[in-house]
Amino acid sequence: MYGKGTIETERQEPQTSTQETSNPQAKVVDLQEKRQPTQAAIQRQEPPTPTSKKRPLHDARRVTVRTIRRMKKQGEKIVMLTAYDATFARLLDDAGVEMLLVGDSLGMVVQGADDTLSVTMEDMIYHTRCVARGARRAMVVGDLPFMSYQISPQQALENAGRLVKEGGAHCVKLEGGEEVADAIRLITRAGIPVVGHLGLTPQSVHALGGFVVQGRRPEQATQIIEDAKAVQAAGACCLVLECIPADLAREISEQLDIPTIGIGAGKGCDGQVLVVNDMLGLNPDFQPRFVKQYTSLHELISGAVHHYLDDVKEAHFPAAEHSF
Ligand code: KIV
Repeated sequence: MYGKGTIETERQEPQTSTQETSNPQAKVVDLQEKRQPTQAAIQRQEPPTPTSKKRPLHDARRVTVRTIRRMKKQGEKIVMLTAYDATFARLLDDAGVEMLLVGDSLGMVVQGADDTLSVTMEDMIYHTRCVARGARRAMVVGDLPFMSYQISPQQALENAGRLVKEGGAHCVKLEGGEEVADAIRLITRAGIPVVGHLGLTPQSVHALGGFVVQGRRPEQATQIIEDAKAVQAAGACCLVLECIPADLAREISEQLDIPTIGIGAGKGCDGQVLVVNDMLGLNPDFQPRFVKQYTSLHELISGAVHHYLDDVKEAHFPAAEHSF
């Protein structure tokens, strides 16, 4: 539980719950009561059993490469979202998201850069470790950042190994087709599953001339299909298709045995991924066509912070119940 203060257990005069239950967690329950009276009341009536301390489980078994392969075979859509820290990882995992991508998009949505190019291995290891701590069931995919795998397959293997050993990733992702096939082969042979990424590959933003839809021209589409096959043949377990026409993505998904995960690639893919900040509406200035905003966290957070600001300025917070 976050925000719980063990200091609370040192309080000298427990006011309610300790007399009402022999539960050794009584003081913690009393603490919760201030925040969530209803839940605290329920907990007093029914002292927690050993299992009630655990977070809810959707499936005790970890999502693995075998799970996503089976899902494709059975026509069950795969749900992937980006995550960059343990709090969000836990939330998304508890909701049942199957794959958490620690994307190098963190360069933009966490670090505030204009693109993903400045993200380092150290950044990726740090955020992957945070996400891995929060994820209990989901498969954690760590992104290999720009220039961490392009130099040689050996460099790619070394950095993939770091994401697994130091970051706790279950799988790594890299961008590109035929040109990264040797790297995918080497990493896969070392026992690390690899997710490919084709279409709009943000690490090539300058070569592509911006963040623009790929594969509209027939020769471009043919190249993407060839690259998809090369990525699969090299051993990738999954392929992200970003911002390509829906028909092309459907065709690739039908031709490949490995699952495809689309972002701006239509519904013919085997699964979907979005940047979590985008689908939660954290940035009102960024609403591209391929994002569906499921809520407007920007408004909610802004409203809550204004409320807090007013409360502090007018000395309404902290009130007696928040004080010792
Ligand atoms: O970095 C990232 O978040 C990604 C997804 C948008 C696919 O690559």
